[in-house]
Amino acid sequence: MSFDKKNIRPVTDPSRPGIYIETYGCQMNINDSEVILSIMEDAGYALTDDIDKASVIIANTCSIRDNAEQRIWGRIEQFRLQKRKRENVIIGIVGCMAERLKDKLLDGYEVDLVAGPDSYRTLPELIRNIRPDKPQINTLLSHEETYSDITPVRMDKNGISAFISIMRGCNNVCSYCVVPYTRGAERSRNPFSILNEAENLFDNGYKEICLLGQNVDSYFWKDGENPEKNVNFSQLLEMIAKISPDLRVRFSTSHPKDISDEVIYTMALYDNICKHIHLPVQSGSNAMLEKMRRKYTREWYLERVRKIRSVIPGCGLTTDIIAGFCGETEQDHKDTLSLMEEVMFDSAFMFQYSERPGTLAARNFPDDVPSEVKTERLNEIIALQNRMSLESNRRDIGKTFKVLVEGPSRKNPEELCGRASNNKMCVFPDTIHSAGEYVDVKVISCTSATLICELARP
Ligand code: 5AD
Ligand code: SF4
Repeated sequence: MSFDKKNIRPVTDPSRPGIYIETYGCQMNINDSEVILSIMEDAGYALTDDIDKASVIIANTCSIRDNAEQRIWGRIEQFRLQKRKRENVIIGIVGCMAERLKDKLLDGYEVDLVAGPDSYRTLPELIRNIRPDKPQINTLLSHEETYSDITPVRMDKNGISAFISIMRGCNNVCSYCVVPYTRGAERSRNPFSILNEAENLFDNGYKEICLLGQNVDSYFWKDGENPEKNVNFSQLLEMIAKISPDLRVRFSTSHPKDISDEVIYTMALYDNICKHIHLPVQSGSNAMLEKMRRKYTREWYLERVRKIRSVIPGCGLTTDIIAGFCGETEQDHKDTLSLMEEVMFDSAFMFQYSERPGTLAARNFPDDVPSEVKTERLNEIIALQNRMSLESNRRDIGKTFKVLVEGPSRKNPEELCGRASNNKMCVFPDTIHSAGEYVDVKVISCTSATLICELARP
């Protein structure tokens, strides 16, 4: 396999037709948009951030919860206005919502193009074949596609931190989740293409890489010829960490049932593997975990947390929580609150359960927690997490952290911001350093979201 070392920043050629891309959803989608841009640049397009000048308008969409889809429907309405202004503009809906709704997106919405997450290589051809009365659609899912030979064109502004997809799809049919249907079966990407991409980013000045997958712990590359050359996630982490001590490595998302001791020890061994694990628990109730098909118990989860904390003291731990899943009782909800208190997460993404058509839960369990109760429980979860995030940050006061500078803080141009290894955002007055440098800072106070710091004295 040969790897393409092409330019990783967008081409800026005003004579080319413009492509405008809007991205919704997770980090995986952000990286997919960079793959799409790479493919479209090769076909002669150039990125534009001016929708009025674009020949092709693409929305890379998310289906994870109903409100994500509702937002996108609103945008599709606005894209239609472009069609009123300019007849030849092409409107494309790609990604998870395209995969889920398929040709339903073509019914009367003036969409010209529908493409699922595994069909991006065919975008130029699909676009060539579009006629006013002939929209194009490709929602085939693949067992092999990992886009491993495509160099994503980076759209981030700061040039410091980049995502690399190491696998696609998911085999864990959690009962609430639409992802296995929208992103297909799990497949791992060739580790040498991942290494090559990471080295190329580092050579281009990037200092932080986040390895992405729906379940990174089940990453596994099988070498057909020689089993000794198989690569698991812990080995992949080590390969990337060895590129340079100046290149930080992060990863997301871990699955509590799969995160191995080997991964935890590898994290401890390398200073440049960031000490942060995003470990979605979803619920603290064994009855709910079973119904969600998470394949672990509360006790198993707490044991993994103890292991992480004993091997990596100070490791940042964050999570995802769903409030009001099917049949959730007051006691189940209390179990979630008590688990949160026991673990003391540093931060969390918290959601109300949203029924997704076609999932196991939608087919088998009534969505029977009333909406007001879901909201009440979610608010309680958020209030508790805010309290605990503040406590967690307070415990860091007086500590010194090495921060990778991302740039000026949003609120004050005299201040810089950047993340500590544990993923906490630090701000500090500094007019000397700049984006991409490592700086030691000392925490002097905090809010629930930010550590307020000063430059550490040498
Ligand atoms: N309803 C609410 N939240 C969901 N998530 C996934 N599916 C649903 C759903 N149907 C949440 C989970 C997951 C995160 C990415 O989104 O917490 O970890
Ligand atoms: Fe990402 Fe899941 Fe949303 Fe798809 S449905 S964009 S995989 S969060």
